[in-house]
Amino acid sequence: MSELRIRSMADYRAAYQRSTTDPEGFWADVAASFHWRSPWAKVLEWDFAKADTKWFIGGRLNITENCLDRHLAERGEMTALLWEPNDPAQSSEHISYRQLHERVCRMANVLKRQGVKKGDRVCLYMPMIPELAISVLACARIGAIHSVVFGGFSANSLVDRINDSQCVLVITSDGIRRGAKSIPAKPVVDEALPSCPSVKTVLVAKCTGEAVSMRSGRDLWLEDELKQVDADCPAEPMDSEDPLFILYTSGSTGKPKGVVHTCGGYMVYAGYSFANVFQCEENDVFWCTADIGWITGHSYIVYGPLLNGVTSVMFEGVPTWPDPTRFWQVIEKHGVTQFYTAPTAIRSLMAAGHDLPSSFAMPSLKLLGSVGEPINEEAWHWYHEQVGKKRCAVVDTWWQTETGGILLSGLGSITPMKPAHAGLPLPGIRTILVDQQGNELHGEAEGYLCIDFPWPSAIRTTWGDHERCRLNYFAQYPGRYFTGDGAKRDADGFFRIIGRVDDVINVSGHRIGTAEVENAIDEHPDIVESAVVGYPHDIKGQGIYAFVICDHVRTDKDALRNEVIATVERIIGKIARPDKIQFVSGLPKTRSGKIMRRILRKVAEGEMNSLGDTSTLLDPAVVEEITSGRV
Ligand code: WTA
Repeated sequence: MSELRIRSMADYRAAYQRSTTDPEGFWADVAASFHWRSPWAKVLEWDFAKADTKWFIGGRLNITENCLDRHLAERGEMTALLWEPNDPAQSSEHISYRQLHERVCRMANVLKRQGVKKGDRVCLYMPMIPELAISVLACARIGAIHSVVFGGFSANSLVDRINDSQCVLVITSDGIRRGAKSIPAKPVVDEALPSCPSVKTVLVAKCTGEAVSMRSGRDLWLEDELKQVDADCPAEPMDSEDPLFILYTSGSTGKPKGVVHTCGGYMVYAGYSFANVFQCEENDVFWCTADIGWITGHSYIVYGPLLNGVTSVMFEGVPTWPDPTRFWQVIEKHGVTQFYTAPTAIRSLMAAGHDLPSSFAMPSLKLLGSVGEPINEEAWHWYHEQVGKKRCAVVDTWWQTETGGILLSGLGSITPMKPAHAGLPLPGIRTILVDQQGNELHGEAEGYLCIDFPWPSAIRTTWGDHERCRLNYFAQYPGRYFTGDGAKRDADGFFRIIGRVDDVINVSGHRIGTAEVENAIDEHPDIVESAVVGYPHDIKGQGIYAFVICDHVRTDKDALRNEVIATVERIIGKIARPDKIQFVSGLPKTRSGKIMRRILRKVAEGEMNSLGDTSTLLDPAVVEEITSGRV
């Protein structure tokens, strides 16, 4: 992809310019640097009014040929995946491109042997072990659609996701290691499956070695199955617009929706954005600390680095175990050149000891990346100075599950750095700001962040419900994709993301819909109603604050609080547990019955003196109770 690599500010300007005057020519040139089985007939067709986007129409390809086969001749022996285990006493594993190719083919043959066909959905509920990346690629190899569910979700969440897309097979492991703890995986699948009639087979990888029950006729040990198959599996030629994967994500309303990405456009943009944002060179060692259960892991642990023939580090553990220098140890151990993590991790490591990174010179490091939530200036400076020793570029990358790849970011050390600013749009990305009515704002401005023109890895649909996709993203400002984020643009055209403007909160970089948490809380038999808002949290970015109405007086408030938390953990998973719970007798509602969340947000933020106009409330007295009972 070298000819499309941006190497200077002038290159960036030229690429951006061409991408606006001749978008189809521009993206056709980018796409031509990949391997296609047959070329596309048309570059782009789109109609945002219908939420329709198609790229490289009629082209045929398989993304795994681009991630694996294409590299075998030149860099077959080079490490593709460098797996670092949870426990530093255990050896890391270097998997070369050739070995990865072979393991992906074997896994693909296991799937085929179980009857998985092109277009079938396969759910992956797994720890960060090589088998997860291999399973992702194995699905792509045979044209099965992967749906990875983060290992922190509960059985109930797994049921929703499996049933929504009617998965036929689940790949899991006995358990999941996370620091000193081990958490169950197969038992969660066992709990889910009685409610998931579409699943015929469960493949179980060994990870923690814990005993699990295996149901005959349904559950198979992966290691046994891998012995039954050979290492040759031709890649299935896919249409550009065939789905590659589904990834569930939370929105303002309803249950999580399955964001669908397709083979051609996603490949082109994941590869292009990786190359230019991280500016990797041959022999670089790239480390993204995300979990493959999130989009960041899909695009920048698996697909982006492998498309570019780079070594990608995959880390099973957590940043703080056995101690909060683990990241720096791993960087030195493997000579990591680009390191990509989330502000939450940065803040928690900063809190664990401001000077801790100073004993690690980390001479290999060239670039630091941030993703998932706004990075505050203090964390940005600490990252730049303590971790990057002031010699590494810092890129703050803004994007979403729906965008498939990074849309706003610095490009290596090419573009100027501005602390806490995501920076400039990548070529091809027409980010604009609008006011509430949808009028475009020009120059220095603050408004709602929209995108005015399609890019190759744009969301194609929400699985099984295209109208939901249209309503969620394309209806608020007709003709535009609405991100759900508020942002500011400065005089130099740099964007700074303010945060979500909808009812989605960002807890430790994880998207959580407030309505989902409310529905979970309301499942508790004693709870009649609840309202959930976000509030600023020093480490997590945002915390979850729940206002809860109990149907009778319970004096054992602490017990009730724990029960509410347990209910949320059971229904959604630990990631959605409320940080604060306040019991109230009523919620601030308008006469039409709508909860005034603005007031609840102010209370949760502790800004009780700026509640604004409360005169339209049905019962203004509840405000007094709520403010005085703040926890
Ligand atoms: C937020 C994660 C500020 C934003 C890749 C977005 C960010 C949501 C940044 C998407 C950033 C992501 N600065 N905010 N650099 N990156 N966000 O789908 O609110 O898990 O809408 O994708 O995270 O979260 P998602």
